[in-house]
Amino acid sequence: IEDPKCVAKTFPDYFEALFSLVQADPARIPVLCVDGPTASGKGTLAAQLASQLGYHLLDSGALYRITALAAGRAQLPLDATGEPAIAGLAQGLQLEFTADHRVLLAGEDVSDAIRTEEAGMNASKVSVLPRVRAALVDLQHGFRRLPGLVADGRDMGTVIFPEAPLKVFLTASAEQRAQRRFKQLISKDKSITLDSLRADLEARDARDSSRSVAPLKPAADARLLDNSNVSVEESVKLVLGWWQGKQPF
Ligand code: DC
Repeated sequence: IEDPKCVAKTFPDYFEALFSLVQADPARIPVLCVDGPTASGKGTLAAQLASQLGYHLLDSGALYRITALAAGRAQLPLDATGEPAIAGLAQGLQLEFTADHRVLLAGEDVSDAIRTEEAGMNASKVSVLPRVRAALVDLQHGFRRLPGLVADGRDMGTVIFPEAPLKVFLTASAEQRAQRRFKQLISKDKSITLDSLRADLEARDARDSSRSVAPLKPAADARLLDNSNVSVEESVKLVLGWWQGKQPF
């Protein structure tokens, strides 16, 4: 079924009915990876691709953000001294992703708490720890369910789904990314400045790219997309064209 969304009107439970009857080999379920640095727009692109294709969505950054939040609440140091305990927390996270795009941690809605700049910076810190990354692998693989998955992150194409038929590496200039983040945040926090955002973003890029495990870098077979001057609609159209070209069904 090349357009899984076609069932939405006449048979919305089609896939539930189908999957109660059949089993799929996870290795054959299509995955489209969207990797890239902070504020490159990969979250928006991945969500729109998933919606248009009728696929599941993995926001892997949210998993690191939630892990950092849980570690902070447990008053664990977000460095190597806290690593075993944070990895233990990551392994046992009780998560639920709701249909209206909220995320619940042990029943509590933490969607807003994990979206602050501080939460992003803390996520970047725990994501350096190899045991924390290892603890989140199975959870991420579990998102690979029929009819397909769009996976958003830093290491989707390089580590988590290296055999994915299409890997997109999204970039935009630091200037553009800081501007976009500024527009998102200024209504919530008037004290924020463009310069401080750009400095934070560059610090996160540096940490995410220089870590020894799963650093931020394009997979060897990734298609690069610099969206500094490309609209979201155009990017979605372009990537859907690449996906159709791969025919991974
Ligand atoms: O995409 P994001 O801003 O929500 O990610 C937050 C942090 O999590 C990011 O700075 C690095 C880390 N991360 C990672 O190491 N690997 C991923 N696949 C996703 C995020």
